[in-house]
Amino acid sequence: MHYNFDQVHRRDNTLSLKWNPNFYSGEFHGRTDLLPLWVADMDYAVSDGILKRFQKVLDGKIFGYAGFDAEYFEAVAHWNKKRHGVEIRRETVLFTPGIVPALDYAVRTFVKEGEAVIIQRPVYYPFAKAIENNGRKLVNSPLLERPGGDYGMNYADFEQKIVENQVKLFILCNPHNPVGQVWKREELEKIAAICLEHKVIMLSDEIHYDLMFYGAKFTSVLTLPDEIKNNSIVCNAVSKTFNLAGLQVSNTIIHNPELRARFRQTLERSHVALPNAFAVEGVKGCYYESDDWYEQMIKYIEGNITFAADYISARIKPLSMRRHQGTYLGWIDARGLELGNEQLADLCEARAKVAFDYGYWFGPEGEGFLRINLACTRATLEQALKKLERAVQSRQKGALLKLTFRR
Ligand SMILES: Cc1ncc(COP(=O)(O)O)c(C=O)c1O
Repeated sequence: MHYNFDQVHRRDNTLSLKWNPNFYSGEFHGRTDLLPLWVADMDYAVSDGILKRFQKVLDGKIFGYAGFDAEYFEAVAHWNKKRHGVEIRRETVLFTPGIVPALDYAVRTFVKEGEAVIIQRPVYYPFAKAIENNGRKLVNSPLLERPGGDYGMNYADFEQKIVENQVKLFILCNPHNPVGQVWKREELEKIAAICLEHKVIMLSDEIHYDLMFYGAKFTSVLTLPDEIKNNSIVCNAVSKTFNLAGLQVSNTIIHNPELRARFRQTLERSHVALPNAFAVEGVKGCYYESDDWYEQMIKYIEGNITFAADYISARIKPLSMRRHQGTYLGWIDARGLELGNEQLADLCEARAKVAFDYGYWFGPEGEGFLRINLACTRATLEQALKKLERAVQSRQKGALLKLTFRR
């Protein structure tokens, strides 16, 4: 089946968080007139396979408590094996109502109050919240920016900080939001070996695992040697890949029975047990009946990445965006404008009237960057880039006028 990703679906008249200023204006100085390219969901209708599964639930006309049947776990195992070469045994999969809650449960399970958790900033900001809101100590080993805009890990710094702070848990973003880096097997093995050596449990957030571009290959921590797997917790979901974030279902996969029992105890204490029927059927629709949608979506978003990178380099100097390989989130380098956080926000909101995620939300290492959600129609993307272009030009003209006036 052919899907048309250029088709515009109005979302401003729905309950969409991204498109409804009543829900989000607090993030953007109360503004209600922004074109939204921030929160990470897609502006695309879901696959027919998913809709058929939802229809089956609707046809039942009763929406009482639901459970996970065998087909759910078979679907998860099927996709993970076929797409990522990962073997998933049913008993290793625990239900969590989203990955952000899973991070919170992991922090509470494996780290005592006052003990330390390490992350690599700039990184998805709920990582920091899960640590700090639970009274644990946040330790940061920043990513290294390489020439050309790629990022790497700083192994020496990571190990030193683990030792100095007696870190208990590492939260890895694989692939990395917001910088779009797809970690290589060697990189993962190296960082995992440091964790093993110092008895630090590794949690790999793999929510963006299917979103690979330009031929990049995803490596799950679940494909690493057994001793690493036994020291790891892996979180994945259909939510980013198939645009189902609102269903609030994710898988937390834990090989080590002892770690699994401890995590399960936290879930039980928090009464996390039951999914809703749409989530269970939706996941099956994704993993069994959405391959055509998935493959076309990847091509379309890859086109958006190329379009945005080319547009920015040709027309919005001094900004740049590299053609990243993982996630549908672009990382625009606006440091050349030499603006502070508030000034850059003002440029985006008051002049361009576009809502981006600001780089500084992901830690001070992200200052001067903008994260753009590229899972929109090409027309929306072009409109946003044009608005940004005009805002940058008008600011530069303004700056030039001021300079002339001063002379
Ligand atoms: C790295 C990462 N983890 C987790 C989430 C959100 O997970 P959930 O909606 O399942 O809580 C996101 C959403 O953007 C993300 O980028």
